[in-house]
Amino acid sequence: MRHFLTLKDFTKEEILEIIELGLEIKKDLKSGTHKQQLKSKTLAMIFEKSSTRTRVSFETGMFQLGGHALFLSNRDIHLGRGEPIKDTARVISSMCDMVMIRTFEHSMIEEFASFSKVPVINGLTDSYHPVQLLADYMTMVEYGIAEGAKVAYVGDGNNMTHSWLMLASKMGFDLRIATPKGYEVDSKVLEDALKLAKESGANITVSNDPKEAIRGATIVTTDTWASMGQEDEKEQRVKAFEGYIVDDLKMCLAKKGAKFLHCLPAYRGQEVSESVLEGHADIVFTEAENRLHAQKGLMVWLDQQREK
Ligand code: CP
Ligand code: NVA
Repeated sequence: MRHFLTLKDFTKEEILEIIELGLEIKKDLKSGTHKQQLKSKTLAMIFEKSSTRTRVSFETGMFQLGGHALFLSNRDIHLGRGEPIKDTARVISSMCDMVMIRTFEHSMIEEFASFSKVPVINGLTDSYHPVQLLADYMTMVEYGIAEGAKVAYVGDGNNMTHSWLMLASKMGFDLRIATPKGYEVDSKVLEDALKLAKESGANITVSNDPKEAIRGATIVTTDTWASMGQEDEKEQRVKAFEGYIVDDLKMCLAKKGAKFLHCLPAYRGQEVSESVLEGHADIVFTEAENRLHAQKGLMVWLDQQREK
């Protein structure tokens, strides 16, 4: 049995297998030949933070696969009133076939997974957002921009940045990260990524220079400056991130025809300008839609591993 907590635990081949499965499932859905590969299975979804895409994609995906998803907010279940994680994990995994968790501390899902009898999927923690990166990579494959990608990530050194580090170092593409001073990526995650990059051939650099990061990039990406749980720091962050907006002037430094990606929700006028976001709406909203298809691929893949 496998959990999906970070991309670090997956090989390049496994990541590609999941993406291929997701693309096949997407094709079948569009052509009306969709199969109910998870008939009568249940997915418990524990949300300790807000969500639009993650909730809708997992719930819809499970339904389309013939199963059922349970939305469990921490306001409703006893976890939010102090029932231990290990007890919650043993109870839920004795009744459901898979669990998806969106929470704060990454150690929470690690503990949950260690007590769970069924696969656990990370639907975002403070440290990683790996399901988003499955959708991002699927989108890169569909747009024919995965091969030889030079990705520039400009903004906060957060869960998205850490996941880009894992994806790049596994898949072997170039990644230049630019964050303001004091908002750099976690040094341990960077160290892990640099080690992995030696094997995959990925060229990974970090700096405090957004223009340098974007120069010559084939894909530019960013994320909110204040993640969920950092609401109190919003004002201070807007000041610290001055000059980090991805706008048309900065996009001009990227390679001609470069694409822009954003996990959404986007804050126009902060990390990205209205014009860049709307100018790349086709790929950005395909990226959002691909959350559905990529995660269906993931759930089917995880289910297949249990049967092996
Ligand atoms: N990108 C993403 O995970 O969106 P939600 O927070 O809406 O789920
Ligand atoms: N970094 C953001 C991603 C939202 C999908 C957050 O954690 O809030």
